[in-house]
Amino acid sequence: MAETRDDLSTADGIWSLRRLPEMDEAQFSQWQTLLEHRTGMALTESRKSFLETNLGIRMREIGCNSYQAYYEQIVSGPDAIVEWATLVDRLTVQETRFFRDEDAFRLVSDYVMTRPRETLRKRPLEAWSVGCSTGEEAYTLAMILNQCMEALALKPLFGVTGSDISKPAITKARSGLFSARKLTSIDKTMKNRYFRPAQRNTVEIVASIRDRVCFTHLNVLDLKHAPMHGVNIIFCQNLLIYFRRWRRREIVKRLAERLAPGGLLVLGQGELTDWHPPGLQRVPSEHVLAWIKRQPDEE
Ligand SMILES: C[S@@+](CC[C@H](N)C(=O)[O-])C[C@H]1O[C@@H](n2cnc3c(N)ncnc32)[C@H](O)[C@@H]1O
Repeated sequence: MAETRDDLSTADGIWSLRRLPEMDEAQFSQWQTLLEHRTGMALTESRKSFLETNLGIRMREIGCNSYQAYYEQIVSGPDAIVEWATLVDRLTVQETRFFRDEDAFRLVSDYVMTRPRETLRKRPLEAWSVGCSTGEEAYTLAMILNQCMEALALKPLFGVTGSDISKPAITKARSGLFSARKLTSIDKTMKNRYFRPAQRNTVEIVASIRDRVCFTHLNVLDLKHAPMHGVNIIFCQNLLIYFRRWRRREIVKRLAERLAPGGLLVLGQGELTDWHPPGLQRVPSEHVLAWIKRQPDEE
């Protein structure tokens, strides 16, 4: 087997990193299967170099020099669970931002504003950000719901849950602290209302919003074990895009089961095509992919 460890180049006396050898087809296929089985992510051939780079970085950190040895460590090593948690964080795309899909958040706002006032006054509104990454989407939902309650002159009777497979992302989300750079494209009124300057170029979410949002570690492949039921708004964007079509449908079916009658499910544009989830009615919108769960008497 080729020597692959970080190495001292003796010829010119400068430290250099020797690259890991290219991953062969059998190894790639083994990693593809493992990742898809455990996370749902289907890694295409075009993502092979992404996999090699990220595995390579992690392997260097722990001093491992072969893909096979690392694979064995992940599936059966003494620290397999801990190492898997680290790796999954490195291999998932966590890009996100506050108010990312403005049309979708406007739809949420319209949905809340047109609900019977009496219901909003009596029953807490529950929202869920599925695949919430570092929390921006969940906090945005809370801000939108708060704006609605204020506009309706109602008490802020709502809660938002954010869930993600990445534990480090969830820890970051819980902190409620973000780089000030993340606010550059946010409307000034919302910025002043919901963020406070914190230490060293960071901002924190105001307590009135943080108190209404909680975060939990959850793999969408394990939705059957999720304790969420009767949710009014489920927001799941930029997650299903990494999954195969049959799996997207399975997950959407599971999410629909967690919706309250009359509840709203919002996905990302183009994330579900050529299929109509049973029991749901499409919201007529050109820019947002969303459904309402039919009431039992509408079935
Ligand atoms: C691109 S981010 C999307 C964040 C946010 N929803 C948005 O649209 O801005 C995708 C997130 O899905 C999470 N993810 C990937 N596979 C997952 C799984 N099987 N279960 C739960 N979350 C998963 C990733 O960790 C990542 O944080």
